[in-house]
Amino acid sequence: MDFKTTLQVSQMIVNELSGSALVHKMQGLLFKSQGFEKLGQKYIDHYNEEMVWVEKYTNRMLDLGCIPQMKVCNETTLIENPKEYIEADLKIQREGVESLYKIMPTLASDPTTYDITKAYLLDEEEDLYWDEEQLDLIEKIGIQNWLVKQM
Ligand SMILES: [Fe+2]
Ligand SMILES: [Fe+2]
Repeated sequence: MDFKTTLQVSQMIVNELSGSALVHKMQGLLFKSQGFEKLGQKYIDHYNEEMVWVEKYTNRMLDLGCIPQMKVCNETTLIENPKEYIEADLKIQREGVESLYKIMPTLASDPTTYDITKAYLLDEEEDLYWDEEQLDLIEKIGIQNWLVKQM
């Protein structure tokens, strides 16, 4: 069996996701410091959830006898305004889900990684809907009311 695609995809997800997960954690700490305890905790928990996926793909690579490469994430400026951050995250989330849809067929010959990625895709879609839902809520109840809910 040829696991070249699996290894490429796994390495790409390990790199991208560990970077974006860490940004969630840093944003979480920032939001907490602004008094938005719930929103901050949501993103800190989100970091932990996403690192579980990083572990899954890392273990898949290790199981196949490949030692992952490490890439420290790019320099990123944190976003102080919660709504602006959700808008920025939604954009990244849409691109991420779209690329996962494209990746799925390339994993057809490796059911193990296919299943991991299918579950991961479902998770990422839920994150996308969460972002959309929050922006919808802000639209409906107003930013001030929404911010009160994040305290
Ligand atoms: Fe995320
Ligand atoms: Fe996610």
